[in-house]
Amino acid sequence: MIWTHRLFFLFLHIYPIFKSMQKRFYIETYGCQMNEYDSEILAGILQSHDFILSDSPEDADLILLNTCSVREHAEQKIHSRLGELKHLKDKRPDLKLGVIGCMAQNLKNDIIKSKPYVNLILGPDSYRHIDEYLDSEKKHIIDTKLSKYEVYNGLFPARKEGINAWISIMRGCNKFCSYCIVPYTRGRERSRSIESIVEEAQKSIDNGFAEITLLGQNVNSFDHEGRKFPELLRAIAKVDGLKRLRYTSPHPQDVDEELMRVHAEFKPLIANHIHLPLQAGSDNVLKAMNRTYTQEHYLKLVDMIRNFVPDMGITTDIIVGFPGETEEDFRETLKVMNYVKYNSAYTFKYSPRPYTKAWNMDDNVSEEDKSARLTELIALQKKHTLERYRDMIGKEVEILVEGRSKKSPEEMKGRTACNKIVIFPKLDYKPKDMIKRKITDAQGVSLFSRS
Ligand code: 5AD
Ligand code: SF4
Repeated sequence: MIWTHRLFFLFLHIYPIFKSMQKRFYIETYGCQMNEYDSEILAGILQSHDFILSDSPEDADLILLNTCSVREHAEQKIHSRLGELKHLKDKRPDLKLGVIGCMAQNLKNDIIKSKPYVNLILGPDSYRHIDEYLDSEKKHIIDTKLSKYEVYNGLFPARKEGINAWISIMRGCNKFCSYCIVPYTRGRERSRSIESIVEEAQKSIDNGFAEITLLGQNVNSFDHEGRKFPELLRAIAKVDGLKRLRYTSPHPQDVDEELMRVHAEFKPLIANHIHLPLQAGSDNVLKAMNRTYTQEHYLKLVDMIRNFVPDMGITTDIIVGFPGETEEDFRETLKVMNYVKYNSAYTFKYSPRPYTKAWNMDDNVSEEDKSARLTELIALQKKHTLERYRDMIGKEVEILVEGRSKKSPEEMKGRTACNKIVIFPKLDYKPKDMIKRKITDAQGVSLFSRS
């Protein structure tokens, strides 16, 4: 007994020393959800090698910037962030600084040349053995080999607590839209096995998550040994304790009746929301973008989706100012928006990217026209979003309860299938309950259910 006490006190003294000897890592994530997921995978790998997560770069021994190359602006942000972090390297030369993700893949040599204080450059397929690189004495390490196979099977991401767990089901892209750098930074499509995804999904639910969002650059191009996306959705829908299932982002080319049948069959477990990137409304621009569909095809798809799931919320991505886009072409984009009335839209000015086919096209829409088109598009989307919010008043919706509302202790908040926040009275609801309530009001970007 006395010995047990002594051992315990010894442990109390030694543990803080042991902790202070452990290396600390800090990850800053930019860009898409796939990067968020990859950062969680990296955190899992580093923790399994006795690193501990630090919440500030100041006291980390390893700083990783997980980067995005999709638009030039995203890369500029990283360049200036690296400039800011240089003073930490100057003060602590032992600190390891890494640039990982899409920009590492895209700009490896440029980064080392212009910022020689960066130690580690890892592409999106090179994270599995990061611990070996960290042991190396070399000043610079670059590994940006793209893999035909790496899907990070068997690695469990270190997720922050919450309601939603992201699960990557496929990586890479074979579509080669002419403006997009992703096929060059993330390589060819490859999918995980259904079994490994179901296992990760069940583990996440057992660890306290209620919702799962399946992730992939082209999530519905999922194909593992001939087993396709609808089969995967059916398998995940059976995960014990799962309250809501989402996925992002599908490509219109791979949206078919079978997918909508699964939506209808598993409603409301599979959220009635689909992100359907339009990119542009004019057939000329769609062709130059290599989007593989016409406006007519896209609109028919929207009709088909609404036929199977009438209350499906549809969101989108749109680019303005693609090379050669005329004012007339742009009006076609507005026409599609007026037809679909998206719940929300991510909107971008075209940004030329190296390696892509469009890089060699004349970026001939002036900055002024790009800005004017973007402003008009955003205003129209705002109008549609408000209409969609107002349409919901008086309707009963499924809400996944998240917790207390920040503004009022007597109220709680949750999310609709379309990811909209709803505020409602506390009653005896608990986080992760799936409840049905009538929407009574819509203000700004919040919905209310107060009677
Ligand atoms: N310029 C502007 N937007 C782009 N996107 C992809 N590449 C570019 C580019 N070169 C947008 C697309 C895509 C979203 C993730 O980013 O709309 O769907
Ligand atoms: Fe980029 Fe097109 Fe692939 Fe999406 S589908 S990642 S936009 S190339």
